[in-house]
Amino acid sequence: MKVLLYNIRPEGQDYVDEWMKNHPEDELVTTPDDLTLETVDMAKGHGYDAVSMQQVPDVVEEEIYKRLIDYGIHHIALRTVGFDILNMDYIKKYHFLVTHTPAYSPRAVAENTLASTMYLLRHYGKILGNERKCDFVRVSEEMSDEIYHKTVGIIGVGRIGSAVAELFHALGATVIGNDLITNAANDAFLEYTDFDTVVREADILTLHTPLEPYMVGMIGAEQFKMMKDTAFIVNQARGPLIDTQALVAALKNHEIAGAAIDVFAEETGLFMKRFDNESQLPQFYRELSAMDNVIITPHSAFYTKTSVRNMVMHSMTDVKRVTEGKEPVYKLNY
Ligand code: COI
Repeated sequence: MKVLLYNIRPEGQDYVDEWMKNHPEDELVTTPDDLTLETVDMAKGHGYDAVSMQQVPDVVEEEIYKRLIDYGIHHIALRTVGFDILNMDYIKKYHFLVTHTPAYSPRAVAENTLASTMYLLRHYGKILGNERKCDFVRVSEEMSDEIYHKTVGIIGVGRIGSAVAELFHALGATVIGNDLITNAANDAFLEYTDFDTVVREADILTLHTPLEPYMVGMIGAEQFKMMKDTAFIVNQARGPLIDTQALVAALKNHEIAGAAIDVFAEETGLFMKRFDNESQLPQFYRELSAMDNVIITPHSAFYTKTSVRNMVMHSMTDVKRVTEGKEPVYKLNY
């Protein structure tokens, strides 16, 4: 098979090389670039069976989809869980096969959710801030709760949400969750309930849904008002699920106690870039990053060795299966 892989950085290249060593008959061509109107022509004229990518910027222009079809490419092999970068109208119109990699490592995001939660719960922002100022006097705002006294509310209990439930359940927390589909295998770890109850009762509210158009702004001013003022919100799923301005306002007004944010609606052009100084960053970002009850990570919750390896291995396995006339393992149904 022959595949063009966009967004391959050095750490991903190691796994591409590993694949080619084990499959010398395959040709995997890589570029660090995103798939855009400027770069789509890299896919022209080489007889590729598929293009593969793992990027944050949306593939917006219809022309990109049209050209891929013109170049004989009908398979888009995402190396991500999320598929919201694609325009599903064009995917349907041009009859693309889309595969993704939902199982590359649910634990990677779940463990990051746990780490972020514990950071917030133990007031590390405040404690480390004082420590940097050589101020070691213990103050009551640094006093913590313990996780097994807390209720963790999970919105979206798929592979990642389930892994989150299992981890927090193991620590003795009460876990509640909401999803359109319930899975009996999760009954050991959580109790399913309605969306509003999860928002209201959670001490830690954590989002693990995909991004569908109707979910944009799922957590906005109204939901922040419903949340406990002692609660933390964690978003390691997709930025647009939270209304960023409402988040800033809720934190300023002490409607919630803190936030761990790995994804922003506004992250394209921000994350994966280097800036000379803080003044170049958007206002909302500067406000949030100045708060000691907020942690921001640059869409890195997924970023473990297991994830990066499996992103390549799972997506290439599916391209190979398709070229051999087999059903892919992770076909997107749309
Ligand atoms: C995903 O797998 O959906 C991610 O968010 C990872 C990122 C590299 C786009």
